[in-house]
Amino acid sequence: MFNFEDKNVVVVGGTSGINLGIALSFAKSGANVVVASRNQEKIDAAVAELAKVNSSGAHFGVSFDVRDLAAVQAGFSIIADKLTTIDILVSGAAGNFPAFAKDLSENGFKSVMDIDLLGSFHVLKQAYPIMHRGHGSIIQISAPQAYLAMPMQSHVCAAKAGVDMLTRTLALEWGREGIRINSIVPGPIEGTEGFNRLAPSEQIQKHVAKSVPLGRNGQKDDIANCALFLASEYSSYVTGTVIPVDGGWSLGGANVALAELSKLMPS
Ligand code: COA
Ligand code: NAP
Repeated sequence: MFNFEDKNVVVVGGTSGINLGIALSFAKSGANVVVASRNQEKIDAAVAELAKVNSSGAHFGVSFDVRDLAAVQAGFSIIADKLTTIDILVSGAAGNFPAFAKDLSENGFKSVMDIDLLGSFHVLKQAYPIMHRGHGSIIQISAPQAYLAMPMQSHVCAAKAGVDMLTRTLALEWGREGIRINSIVPGPIEGTEGFNRLAPSEQIQKHVAKSVPLGRNGQKDDIANCALFLASEYSSYVTGTVIPVDGGWSLGGANVALAELSKLMPS
């Protein structure tokens, strides 16, 4: 449906899970795709997968930790040298683990704030000078925790709420330059690290599926399809939005997994 031939796409946190699914969908639609994350082996494996689905695209990877400003600057300097312009930026690096606030160390809270929120700011700010003016599209990968309070998720709730406010604020600041920015809020997505950490058994995952109004957990393609739309000209009048792609889960069912998990946690 979508044609991204000759478009340059950068997916930060694009070496596994939902974000790799997004990267692969852009490659299948003809784009040149750059993936970035910390682990060089994951980067090499992701670039090999990109080449398999689109052998004519100019794909490559860069390694940085989004918490490290100097490393992010160095990474975007390599990207700028090779690409000149970024048409589509996906910012999705994140960390999560379940922990009640009373047991969460200050550094545990800070780690997630630094990856999800400060890291997103680093990425957006370094990408900004080379974002395409006129047709630039930035997609942030948020989470239902941004607007739903959840036990054992104080760090993620605080961080992702900030991510979505960055989306809304930068839509105001960058709109006149022709750069759109939107957040996607994935629901429970099967076969991903994030879902496995919060719903760590088949039984809990089935229970979660029953709580989704559409009656199933999500697939990586469900998120990738929304990203393709938000990057395309079909969404050219859409900016500053926070879009749940969750089968309706955030209307009420989102706490099921956490309620089940909390029964397994030491009190
Ligand atoms: N429960 C409570 N605290 C935890 C924890 C857990 N399960 N896991 C980590 N922490 C705490 C650590 O104890 C440490 O705090 P301390 O110094 O006070 O002891 C702090 O968090 C940082 O941990 P560390 O392992 O040094 O961080 P890291 O930078 O190596 O890794 C994480 C960051 C912890 C977020 C790690 O889980 C990660 O890299 N995640 C990426 C993948 C992921 O989360 N995917 C799902 C995306 S939604
Ligand atoms: P994942 O596979 O663990 O993906 C996380 C990605 O971010 C990996 O590529 C990881 O690679 C990278 N990363 C982590 N910390 C980083 C850091 N400090 N610097 C640079 N890169 C870093 O997890 P996922 O479950 O697919 O989640 C992807 C996104 O979807 C996240 O933003 C998450 O919050 C969101 N989300 C997921 C779900 C779900 O059901 N899974 C639901 C709602 C929202 P390295 O390890 O190589 O760094």
